[in-house]
Amino acid sequence: AHQPPFDDTINHKTILLGDSGVGKTSFLVKYNTGEFRLGSFSATVGIALTNKVVVVDGTRVKLQIWDTAGQERFRSVTHAYYRDAHALLLLYDVTNKTTFDNIRAWLGEIREYAQEDVVIVLIGNKADCSSSERQVKREDGERLGREHNVPFMETSAKTGLNVELAFTAVARQLK
Ligand code: GTP
Repeated sequence: AHQPPFDDTINHKTILLGDSGVGKTSFLVKYNTGEFRLGSFSATVGIALTNKVVVVDGTRVKLQIWDTAGQERFRSVTHAYYRDAHALLLLYDVTNKTTFDNIRAWLGEIREYAQEDVVIVLIGNKADCSSSERQVKREDGERLGREHNVPFMETSAKTGLNVELAFTAVARQLK
């Protein structure tokens, strides 16, 4: 069968970032397996890895995806991994305003530790939650994305909303 063009030499290092509990592990598990379990993942300790190939416009883009720990005490460990990252998925939780307010600090760390041309996608996760649980409006996420010139989308690791789209958005910018 005909295979789309594939540059096997580049394995784009892609890192999931954001505060503890925003749903990074859930997001990656949903992407990998289509499964979601409420509250079943223990907090990530250090780093976990997974490999994926995303096809965008007929081009195969290879992603090596890193799930990092959001907890402050692991922060110094994860900084070391920013430097050679090609892409960053920066997550906050739409039901937790603090995680949104912390995005500015995350972007500061990214400016400090990552390559200047790193691809960033801003993600407001847990978009499945009810309006009474929601603490961050979609428009606030959109505005923050515009301000920092990064694409923004709301996602749900529970329903799968926009989970594939997020990785496609990354791959599209990398190809
Ligand atoms: P650290 O490993 O500590 O950095 O946390 P994390 O960002 O990996 O978060 P994790 O995936 O462990 O999810 C934290 C909690 O949020 C769990 O109880 C998940 O089930 C829940 N959760 C994650 N994503 C979603 C979502 O999209 N919707 C809802 N309703 N709950 C979610």
